[in-house]
Amino acid sequence: MTVPVIELRGASRRYDDGPPALHEVSLTVRRGEAVAVLGPSGSGKSTLLNLIAGLDRPDTGTVTVDGVRVDELGESGSALYRRSKIGMIFQFFNLLDDLTVADNVALPARLAGVARAEARRRAAELLENLGIDRHAGAYPGRLSGGERQRVAVARALMNRPPLLLADEPTGALDTAAGQDVSRLLADLNAEGQTLVVVTHDLSLARSCTQRRVEIADGRLTEDVPPRAAATEAVR
Ligand SMILES: Nc1ncnc2c1ncn2[C@@H]1O[C@H](COP(=O)(O)OP(=O)(O)OP(=O)(O)O)[C@@H](O)[C@H]1O
Ligand SMILES: [Mg+2]
Repeated sequence: MTVPVIELRGASRRYDDGPPALHEVSLTVRRGEAVAVLGPSGSGKSTLLNLIAGLDRPDTGTVTVDGVRVDELGESGSALYRRSKIGMIFQFFNLLDDLTVADNVALPARLAGVARAEARRRAAELLENLGIDRHAGAYPGRLSGGERQRVAVARALMNRPPLLLADEPTGALDTAAGQDVSRLLADLNAEGQTLVVVTHDLSLARSCTQRRVEIADGRLTEDVPPRAAATEAVR
């Protein structure tokens, strides 16, 4: 198999005096894999993504992404890490309303020090690939939910991250727009993009990921490998 992109070893995270939000989670995700993370509300899915994204640190255990020990990064190292290694997609898009679509997409490259003309060129190319180039000059507020999520996907891909993370990317969309985003994620994975998607949406899990990991009370309870997940998807 190929090199791991994500390697969690015995990662635990506890908030205040509550029960652990994550309890000794070990997980390896390899290059080119698409993994769906499923589990009830409060089971630790977002906590897991936050550890992988370096937005939070485990109390014990290690988190390694693309060779970087994410759990050991300081604040600026962690911001730099996110900029270069991670694309993130959220339920509510998190676009900046006072920037145009093109400027939203170009922003991660500008923050990474890429020249304006080059950032614009890449943003235009991504918007065209994702079929939303006609909205390049519009403000996000004028777009439908599905279009906004496409913009968010374009932004997430801007710095060509080895890893794309999504937390309920279809959670705020109607069925048709949700399927559209599912297909988009499936296409990206087919092109080789490594993907971790947290979702309650079983049809999203089936259409855009080969492997399914389940979490309950902060523990991994199930890890359905690609072949079994594919068989289930057919059923
Ligand atoms: N910043 C925080 N401070 C205190 N407790 C937190 C914090 N973040 C998460 N928790 C707790 O950790 C547990 C796991 O939360 P998490 O957000 O990871 O769940 P989730 O699986 O993403 O849920 P949902 O499906 O509702 O988004 C919950 O009990 C939650 O209340
Ligand atoms: Mg969550």
